[in-house]
Amino acid sequence: DWVMREHIAEAVEQIRQQVGDEEVILGLSGGVDSSVAAALIQRAIGARLTCVFVDHGLLRLNEGDAVMDMFVGQLHAKVIRVDASELFLGRLAGVSDPEQKRKIIGGLFVDVFKAEAAKLKAGGAGHKGASFLAQGTIYPDVIESGGAKSKKAASIKSHHNVGGLPEQLGLKLLEPLRDLFKDEVRELGVALGLPPGMVYRHPFPGPGLGVRILGEVKKEYAELLRRADAIFIEELRNCSDPATGKTWYELTSQAFAVFLPVKSVGVMGDGRTYEHVVALRAVQTSDFMTADWAQLPYDLLKKVSSRIINEVRGINRVTYDLSSKPPATIEWE
Ligand code: XMP
Repeated sequence: DWVMREHIAEAVEQIRQQVGDEEVILGLSGGVDSSVAAALIQRAIGARLTCVFVDHGLLRLNEGDAVMDMFVGQLHAKVIRVDASELFLGRLAGVSDPEQKRKIIGGLFVDVFKAEAAKLKAGGAGHKGASFLAQGTIYPDVIESGGAKSKKAASIKSHHNVGGLPEQLGLKLLEPLRDLFKDEVRELGVALGLPPGMVYRHPFPGPGLGVRILGEVKKEYAELLRRADAIFIEELRNCSDPATGKTWYELTSQAFAVFLPVKSVGVMGDGRTYEHVVALRAVQTSDFMTADWAQLPYDLLKKVSSRIINEVRGINRVTYDLSSKPPATIEWE
């Protein structure tokens, strides 16, 4: 619509003025905020933006490829994908404490990003080098970093919009979404041509599957969890509530599968199985500070459970989490 086009034109003009003829680096996470910031900056300065996408190997099924398809395939943005999964999994081996895992993932993420950013800053082969670091900071982040916050909230910040990073890298900061609320960021994303299915996705934590695999993170666990989670999300998107006409994906605020590192006995054909358990989590909330477990239809749960058990070898039992927040949290770690 007209108002949105005006907004975009204004934001684009502002970015051009601020950046001049210099170059910009942005850390793409696959999340909404960094994606919308990237699309907007790309609109403003095209190939003078380089995105760095650090793939920690703890993303959802096909997520890394989807990010590349969208940015490189559709928006024709310059994206450097760093496959750091071996590095992350290696450093997580033997670590089971949730906060320790967060620290390792957040720290490595910054290290890998910094190394790429330093290369881009140095320039070379016809490039003079970047002088700006762009971040997808939105208005609520700006407010929040001023006030008191919990330990977990602190780690959210330290993962996403890394304080002090521009100074450490000797780069100027570019934050084109600083004045926007989440809903406005989403509308802007759609207007910039990002797929609505991506822009209206449930939130996904920075440490990714690292905090959805309870205890020690292993590659084989991540592979099983990714497939179970994808089945759950697919069925939530396919099933509508007749009363509202909305899908259960839309009716829930966050939904995902959790990998439980315990084994239970099952039967399959003539044989006995001894395999892992997955828990399904779905919540409804307006602020993520309190949340109710979602009363999903039994038919939907039944379909998800039988699909996971039949399609994901290595999982022979599915449970549904009936805990509200508080006292439980939304994530299991
Ligand atoms: P909890 O589990 O604390 O989650 O009820 C509240 C919201 O925060 C998200 N969350 C995180 N996001 N890094 C993030 O970027 C984290 O370490 C982290 N831990 C929790 C969670 O997904 C939910 O939306």
